Amino acid sequence: MARTEIKENIYWVGAVDWDIRDFHGYSTYKGTTYNAYLCMDEKITLFDTVKGDCYDELLYHISELTDPTKIDYIVVNHVEMDHSGCLPKIIELCKPEKVFCSPMGQKALMDHFHREDWPIHVVKSGDSISLGKKTVTFLETKMLHWPDSMFSYIKEDKLLISSDAFGQHLASTERYVDEIAIGEIMTHAAKYYANILHLFAPNIQKLLAQVTELGWEIDMIAPDHGLIWRGNPEVILSAYDRWSKRETSLKALVIYDSMWHSTAKMAKAIGGAISREGVQVKMLNLAVNHRSDIMTEVLDCRALVFGSPTLNNGILPRMGDFLTYLKGLRPKGKVGAAFGSFGWSGEAVKILNEAMEVMEITVLDPGLKVKNVPVDVDFAKCKELGVKIAAAVKEMG
Ligand code: FEO
Repeated sequence: MARTEIKENIYWVGAVDWDIRDFHGYSTYKGTTYNAYLCMDEKITLFDTVKGDCYDELLYHISELTDPTKIDYIVVNHVEMDHSGCLPKIIELCKPEKVFCSPMGQKALMDHFHREDWPIHVVKSGDSISLGKKTVTFLETKMLHWPDSMFSYIKEDKLLISSDAFGQHLASTERYVDEIAIGEIMTHAAKYYANILHLFAPNIQKLLAQVTELGWEIDMIAPDHGLIWRGNPEVILSAYDRWSKRETSLKALVIYDSMWHSTAKMAKAIGGAISREGVQVKMLNLAVNHRSDIMTEVLDCRALVFGSPTLNNGILPRMGDFLTYLKGLRPKGKVGAAFGSFGWSGEAVKILNEAMEVMEITVLDPGLKVKNVPVDVDFAKCKELGVKIAAAVKEMG
């Protein structure tokens, strides 16, 4: 079996993007892949395409297997541009008999490409098409993570082509999860889930139940990013179950930025006190931690403690950036507190408290403000705040 033949007569034909470092705010410091799959059945079928500027790589991989003009069907599991960017060129070249997509996919294709002449065939959950020896059954997965998203399941191969779900942003020459250390894969999978899918946790719970109800036998999950889960997809299915149940651990995050070290000193005093109470603490200085890495830590934490000095009657810009990002990803079921130093006006703590209220984070304390530089009496208050936070975290267990 060729390295890219993931199942008999089904091949990975995607593209590896080694250089991408930012995915609209998500730090892809290990790059990513855009996975597409070609099924060489009686109807030659391409599942998804790749980002527009990766067209040549897609075409190269397809051409190793067949003349691209022989492609009969294209399945569009998801219209976001990293998977559909080169669709116009591929359709122009292949002139496929049919392009399959979900009902919302049809709308999204029209909104993106404005082409009424494409041979679109809408498929709904439960619809199946025959490719010859293989059968594809579709499942709409609305808001995982776009309205148009869907899965394609090939029962003869027990293969689930899962679009964005179960992916990782990781560029590699390897194609399978079992070729890489599992710890590294799960770190990338958790980051991907936390930054892209956790927002839709209730939908994921419903989807996992739906897949169980359908009785689909799955021994391989082929996502549209990163490596393929073969042999034991239970590893990622159970992780998604755990994450989407919003399971947490005895853990608090101290997320802060500082101007002249006063707020940093408070952060260390608060974090130290939480830790001494037996609660795990992650100290996350926004000057050196990327927002999307912090989101991975948010996934299973119970407390979010924010620190910013006051700057121009507001908070520091990196804290503003992080709160905007966090708000969009809607953290649920957390407690929180705020702290920060100030010179003369001191609005930062109030602003942080208001931000937490908007996010429905339970604010445990009015917050701690220190004028200019903290001294012993201030550190004692930091310790008290840390003890209070730790107690709340333990109660949440
Ligand atoms: Fe990988 Fe939602 O696109």
